[in-house]
Amino acid sequence: MGVKEIFETMEYGPALETASEAMAWIAAHEGRFGHFIDGRFTKPGAVFATRNPATGEALAEISQGSQADVDAAVAAARSAQGKWAGLGGHGRARVIYALARLVQKNARLFAVLETLDNGKPIRESRDIDIPLVHRHFYYHAGMAQLMAAELPGREAVGVCGQVFPWNFPLLMLAWKVAPALAMGNAVVLKPAEYTSLTALLFAEICVQAGVPKGVVNIVTGDGAVGEMVVSHAGVDKVAFTGSTEVGRKIRVATAGSGKSLTLELGGKSPYIVFEDADLDSAVEGLVDAIWFNGGQVCCAGSRLLVQEGIAEAFYAKLRARMDKLRVGNPMDKGVDVGAIVDPVQLERIRGMVAGSEGEVYQPECDLPEGCYYPPTLITGLESANPLMQEEIFGPVLVSTTFRTPEEAVAVANDTRYGLAATLWSENVNLALDVAPKLVAGVVWINGTNMFDAAVGFGGVRESGFGREGGWEGLSAYTKPSGKQKALKPQEKFSGEAGVVEGLDRTAKFYVGGKQARPDGGYVRPVFGKGGKVLGQVGIAGRKDLRNAVEAARGAKGWAGASGHLRAQILYYIAENLEARSAEFASRINDLNGGKAGADEVAAAVSRLFTYAAWADKFGGDVRSVPIRGVALAMREPVGVIGALCPDEAPLLGLISVMAPAIAMGNRVVLVASEHGPLSATDFYQVLDTSDLPGGVVNILTGSHAELAPVMASHMDIDAVWSFSSSDVSGVIEAQSATDLKRTWVNDGRARDWFAAEGEGRAFLEAATEVKSIWVPYGE
Ligand code: NAI
Repeated sequence: MGVKEIFETMEYGPALETASEAMAWIAAHEGRFGHFIDGRFTKPGAVFATRNPATGEALAEISQGSQADVDAAVAAARSAQGKWAGLGGHGRARVIYALARLVQKNARLFAVLETLDNGKPIRESRDIDIPLVHRHFYYHAGMAQLMAAELPGREAVGVCGQVFPWNFPLLMLAWKVAPALAMGNAVVLKPAEYTSLTALLFAEICVQAGVPKGVVNIVTGDGAVGEMVVSHAGVDKVAFTGSTEVGRKIRVATAGSGKSLTLELGGKSPYIVFEDADLDSAVEGLVDAIWFNGGQVCCAGSRLLVQEGIAEAFYAKLRARMDKLRVGNPMDKGVDVGAIVDPVQLERIRGMVAGSEGEVYQPECDLPEGCYYPPTLITGLESANPLMQEEIFGPVLVSTTFRTPEEAVAVANDTRYGLAATLWSENVNLALDVAPKLVAGVVWINGTNMFDAAVGFGGVRESGFGREGGWEGLSAYTKPSGKQKALKPQEKFSGEAGVVEGLDRTAKFYVGGKQARPDGGYVRPVFGKGGKVLGQVGIAGRKDLRNAVEAARGAKGWAGASGHLRAQILYYIAENLEARSAEFASRINDLNGGKAGADEVAAAVSRLFTYAAWADKFGGDVRSVPIRGVALAMREPVGVIGALCPDEAPLLGLISVMAPAIAMGNRVVLVASEHGPLSATDFYQVLDTSDLPGGVVNILTGSHAELAPVMASHMDIDAVWSFSSSDVSGVIEAQSATDLKRTWVNDGRARDWFAAEGEGRAFLEAATEVKSIWVPYGE
């Protein structure tokens, strides 16, 4: 018999990892775990079982947290936080470095425990999850060390409530804990109810690493405990990873509370194969895209788009590869696809596939008893098919074809999500042309599911907001240093709607580069100090807002204009404003009843210069990643931003909001200061003479309180900012849950528009999204 025949007749021999160390660790805790609060484990209370999904056996008993447990954890975090922040960057870096070392030293125990509890192949927990965990702690030890030098004027947010899912239990913990601790915060963690064991082992590691008591607290239990954590009044910041449905609930639950929020939610990420791709590599990539962790991955490449000419050949190769995938005991080192996390999830997958309209392919494989589902390919679906739109969260790949790159982009973006995208092509021009057009937070070229602590991860649209990893991941865990002043409501001057001096002029809106009458025909007088009528302004309603948004949508060419062109236009606006400074100054003096009009105009001109300067400088950067290649962190405009302008500085406030947004390529719908709207309406004439394309800036006047909810629930607005002195933060955040648009609200905090806090990076960051594009190179 030749070697070839011997190989063909050889039986597959399993290579089982031993569970003995992990089981001994569970036994050392007598199989029952309490919470980890203020540096020690509590006595187990009401408990529930956590099971090994591969066998159905109970592994241990976990405590169901109560309100009292959450209160105790938040109190411990609160009292520990100041001292932890006060330890300084180097002090914290040493502790976080110790965490990294200890996770590394215990890597095998963590990996085995993760696989037992979650069902993912040991190959993945050992080679991917746990190495990424210690990498995350190393990287953020460095961030703690650099904080004082690199993030001047920023400090810890305080107590962070962090809730995470079962698909990457320890990795999601690390993504949240490492940056929080690095920046000087204390945390209260709520792991997923199916998979709490590695978090509890991490608690022990915290003690060994010298994390001061109370800095890390862990309360276990189900979604009800998660709800208690996110809505606790003592929590300053909430970070959540999980389903879009729960993300939406958390957006509503935290609305108006002043808590900052980041959400990393679901996805239906496209995986695009162009006809010039290296097809064998693209097939292998799919194994990592959709069969990694059994497809229970938020960024799984679950929607395959293949160029028509190669579709049949590609599917044939893919089916042949699927036939070779090994499904089975996740503790076997040769297994590719492990168990589904829970019978509930298995039933969900079965139900979704059963209703399929496409052609279903499943290789013949002997599935072991228990929570297993075979690798599945469904072809011939239309983009609108529910299976192409809904997250399945299982080893199920759905597919359609496309003809041209334009069609590929259109189909890829035909989703409410925007987490990740993958594309395969040997043509670098095509790949780098398509990547920026994909609506996603992360794009992988000729590779997939690559992650690193140095590269931001997170989504757009209903995949959530905020980034984890990289410099951009730190902003959620810091806030401006020092005490915040409360914003006082700005009373409008009142008077009697009498005679307007001179000719009666009713200021219109500015929509699509033209003046527009209010749809409802309602106007109101604007009074100066002493009740003098200064003019009339329109009161915008729902229809006016809709028209303005439509005009803004239509001006999409602005996003593609060069930074140089945008800078030139901003300089030109400044020049034209300065030419009329006397007129604007006197208007401001009339509106405010003060004398500082000239200073405000000068500050507005300077601010326009600031953002003209930034327009071609706030670009992205290149991250060094542990692959042969680079990851680009590209700054992209958010899209259409609706903003309620500050009431207190009618011209400077409007320009401070408009200029950073348009400098970064956004289009805006601004609602002018309610107190002094006439400065905004005069400003149209400056815009008209400054070569700004119509629709890039649209200005309405009207009631902030009435327009805020309409803006926040408008599906064609991508972000809402509010600097209004009306109390609208809560309603904006709650209504934004409709499509999970970005919000930036002042929460009643005053901002001095004349000072440094009135401009700069915070505005530029809010005006952009970071897209991470991974570009491996070489043969
Ligand atoms: P989930 O979103 O319900 O759970 C994630 C975490 O949130 C868990 O720790 C859970 O206890 C907690 N939670 C649940 N309700 C909460 C609430 N109202 N307030 C605060 N915390 C709450 O996800 P689940 O039920 O585990 O999975 C359901 C589906 O969600 C999956 O089939 C999948 O489609 C999707 N999913 C997406 C993930 C992602 O990474 N994007 C991760 C996990 C699930």
